[in-house]
This record gives sequence, structure tokens and C-alpha cells, in this order.
Amino acid sequence: MAFDGEAFVQEIRAELTASGRRLDRAVIVERIANGEATPAEMVGWARQHYWGVTYHTRRVLSAWVTKIPYEMTDSVIENIAEEVLGTVSKSGFGHLHWLFQFTRALGAPDTVITEATPNVDATACESFLYNLAHQRPWHELTFGGILGIENQIPPAYIRMVDGFKTHYGNILQPDDYAFHTIHITVDEDHGGHVGEFAERYLDTDAKRRSARAAYLAGAELTRRCWDAFADASW
Ligand SMILES: [Fe+2]
Repeated sequence: MAFDGEAFVQEIRAELTASGRRLDRAVIVERIANGEATPAEMVGWARQHYWGVTYHTRRVLSAWVTKIPYEMTDSVIENIAEEVLGTVSKSGFGHLHWLFQFTRALGAPDTVITEATPNVDATACESFLYNLAHQRPWHELTFGGILGIENQIPPAYIRMVDGFKTHYGNILQPDDYAFHTIHITVDEDHGGHVGEFAERYLDTDAKRRSARAAYLAGAELTRRCWDAFADASW
């Protein structure tokens, strides 16, 4: 029987969901959704996301863009432009600007993040992404980075934003969580065509196995990174 890319993607997504390890079920997401997260914990999460994922996005994607098929380069370059300049969201600034808007609103000086020693979970996540970009077959980043991480972001941030609106209106105004709202809209599309992609490029069992491994590893490493949000203080 011919390989069904859409079924493959649905299957690995279902496997992640069944494990209970999706990002929208992360401890910090639950705590924000319930209004239980302290400002220090939310800054701790931002620190984790900064060191484990978002600070490196432009470099990871820039390395990867040299390896992917030419027809995919438009969307990746657009992704980098949004990350650095906010060109798609027209938010006027890159994503790091908005991350620090969030942590400043919570009362933290930037150095709580920029001068933190990255913990094991953040370092593992960062290292995984660089490994995919530099060392691994290019299709693995589509699964480990785009589907495993980026495509999990909108549902996680929808829950966080609901939490900010419901429980943190006295601390956070909408601009303060623009980092989250921007990612809900700009990242939504990136997982949409992965079924088609799988069918076209995962043309051997070995590629399918490595795509699945990258997907589950990317999802789990980011989950561990986010969950290691304790110990931020100022
Ligand atoms: Fe971003």
C-alpha cells in the first residue's frame, strides 16, 4: 500500500497526545491557565524558552535553510524575517523584543534571563535544535522543530493567553503578552502541510523512522525545558 503522509502525521501526533507530554499540557501552562503561576515562575518559563528555543531560532533556521529543497526556502526565510523583524505580524519588532516586554511587565530586569546560566533542560533543547540544523538529514528539522515544537505553540499559548486575561489583568496588559498572541497567529500555518510534505519527502522507512524520532524528541525536550521554570529570582 502506498505511504499515506497525512495518516503518518496523525499517528505520531496521536502518539504524543496519548503520552500526555504535549506542550499545551506543560506544568507552566496549567499553572497559568489556573492563575496559580507566580510572576517569578512566568519569568522562569520565559528564561527557559529563551535559552532552549527562541534565542536560537534565527541561527537554527539560517543553518537549515542552506540544506532544504529550494522550493521550501521562501517560507523559512519568511519565518526568519518574522522572528527578527516582525514582518508577517507587522508587530514592529522581532520576537525577542516581545519576550522582554512580557518579563519586564512581570517586574524582572532583563539580566534575570540574559545572565542566567542555562540549565540542563534548556541546554539539551538548544543542542538538539542545532544538531538537527547542522548534522542531521534536513527532513528531521521539519518534524523535530516545525511540527514537534513550532506547531505545538499556538494551542499552548491560547491556554496561556486565556490565563493572562482571566487571572493576571492586574499585572499584564495585552501588549505585555504580544509575544504569545503573535505566535498564535504566525505559527498556526506552519504545521498545516506536513502530511503532504511527509508523502513527498519521506520516501523510505528509514526516513519515516528518523522523522518520528525527531518529532518525539523535539516535543519532549521542549516540554522538559518549559517545565524547568523554577528558580528565577531578582
Ligand atoms: Fe518566535
